[in-house]
Amino acid sequence: MKKTALITGASRGIGRAAAMALACQDTAFDRIVLVARDSKHFEQTLAEVRGVSNSCEIIEIFADFDDPNVATEIFDQLDAQGIGLDTIINNAGFTKPATIVNTDLADFEKTMRVNLYSPFKMVQVALQRDHPLKSIINIASTAGISGRAGWLSYSTSKAAVINMSEVLRDELTPFGIKVICLSPGRCATDLRRTLAPDEDPNTIMQPSQVADVIKVMTSPVGDLLQTQNLVVRT
Ligand SMILES: NC(=O)c1ccc[n+]([C@@H]2O[C@H](COP(=O)([O-])OP(=O)(O)OC[C@H]3O[C@@H](n4cnc5c(N)ncnc54)[C@H](OP(=O)(O)O)[C@@H]3O)[C@@H](O)[C@H]2O)c1
Repeated sequence: MKKTALITGASRGIGRAAAMALACQDTAFDRIVLVARDSKHFEQTLAEVRGVSNSCEIIEIFADFDDPNVATEIFDQLDAQGIGLDTIINNAGFTKPATIVNTDLADFEKTMRVNLYSPFKMVQVALQRDHPLKSIINIASTAGISGRAGWLSYSTSKAAVINMSEVLRDELTPFGIKVICLSPGRCATDLRRTLAPDEDPNTIMQPSQVADVIKVMTSPVGDLLQTQNLVVRT
């Protein structure tokens, strides 16, 4: 049975960097499933990840986490191909920063669907369908540890991811499933540019640095690290 990791939000930023890091060398995975919406940049990422992977098989799944049923559809595709997941990296993220007065309920709901409900559903369906899960990595944010003015929906969603990860850890550790919550600080990606448009991306953490931490957490060394919420920042 091939050891398989799935990464959501794999087309850009931290997810893309994690895919490159896990595919390009002797990590624990024989197969990586990359999930994002169908786009030119996802196509390019897939070609780049396949370019660096040696024996690691790369599979793509197109999915929009704005659709609450999409996790079920992802697992339908995995099950049809006989793919069992060992690791899920819940990384897809969305933000549309606004103050309390200016926050549209529709944007708040979308933020919760992508950032919170999608990791919830991905883990729930994997368990319901008896995937051989050994680890779950949820990408939260330092904005979920302390709320930021103007980031109401994003900060709220990430605080919930941190708390949900604690619940999952409590429930799943007895079954041998490791639950890791990573909270990056500011990292040079498109999402960060939406949150802080005037910032110079060269002065902050790079996606490859977060990916290096993800790589460690999926290695045997990562098994030795016990953490509630691992903050990653420069
Ligand atoms: N950058 C930071 O400073 C920072 C700090 C803390 C935490 N984080 C977290 O890190 C994670 C990765 O973000 P990033 O910074 O790497 O941002 P990014 O470069 O903007 O990438 C976001 C990823 O999420 C995917 N995504 C967004 N909406 C989606 C949807 N509706 N359906 C499916 N996929 C969707 C995107 O895929 P598409 O190509 O399909 O849009 C893309 O692959 C997020 O959870 C974010 O909150 C980032």
